[in-house]
Amino acid sequence: MEVLQSPEELERYLAGSTRSRVLVPTMGALHEGHCSLLDLARRSRPDSDLIATIFVNPTQFGPNEDFDAYPRPMEADLEKCRAHGVDAVFTPVAAEMYHDDASIKIHEASLSHRLCGASRPGHFDGVCTVVAKLFNLTRTQAAVFGEKDFQQLAVIRRMVRDLNFPIDIIPGPTVRESDGLAMSSRNTYLTEQQRSEAPVLYKALREAAAAIAEGKLSSPDEAKKQITEAISSCPEAKIDYVDIVDASSLISLGEFTDENVRLLTATYFGKTRLIDNVGLPSPTSGG
Ligand code: PAJ
Repeated sequence: MEVLQSPEELERYLAGSTRSRVLVPTMGALHEGHCSLLDLARRSRPDSDLIATIFVNPTQFGPNEDFDAYPRPMEADLEKCRAHGVDAVFTPVAAEMYHDDASIKIHEASLSHRLCGASRPGHFDGVCTVVAKLFNLTRTQAAVFGEKDFQQLAVIRRMVRDLNFPIDIIPGPTVRESDGLAMSSRNTYLTEQQRSEAPVLYKALREAAAAIAEGKLSSPDEAKKQITEAISSCPEAKIDYVDIVDASSLISLGEFTDENVRLLTATYFGKTRLIDNVGLPSPTSGG
């Protein structure tokens, strides 16, 4: 496995390979969720070079967010990449990615205003800009993103569509701990009490999704109320948002019209903001 630390090293690597590429962008602190995306990338594109990127992107963190504290266990991350068949890891430093006088960025003007974007202004512009740069630097044909960050996946799909990137976006399902908590690099910030309460997010979303599918909740408002009450029963939980949206436009639903429904929440446990989302269970899966 090659470890490439600058755009020049990446360029040399690309010049030496005739294969197409599949990309898995990450900020490191890799867990089984990230590893599942590496495996999915390999399965989806067996004949491509699998390139992972590890870059804690400063432009997507707000001034009061955890950029400095974000975990950076580089050696362990490289070991995981090796174990999951990565061909090359691109891990640049910020100075190599952003010119001091950089004056162009990508602005997403619709999907980003809702949900997480409401409390994280500029976040999705930072994500779009770095992902566009990674697409250009790697000249990849395909890239894998997790449904865990459902809004991010929708924004990236929109960027690829609107800016004509010739790249297939492959979605990967959310990997969870055995008690249902979605894996996240930020779970390590939780106290014991917060960690014991955090599975409520998935439980509340999943129970509401099942009730909607069974016709037991007649309106999105009723479903939101049920989810809000379940999460609020945890003393450490402070809800940022609970929403039920159309999965493509991310617009809040006034009523249930079709199956393209997504239930999402962002909830603080202390200072740690966790996100989760689910779709409706398919009729055959039994929920
Ligand atoms: P990061 O949070 O490291 O996530 C990298 C990828 O892993 C994203 O596509 C995310 O959705 C996915 N992921 C995270 N937790 C997951 C889980 N439990 N199950 C499945 N997939 C999971 O998202 C980012 O980094 C950054 O915004 C990035 C796209 C790299 C741009 O900087």
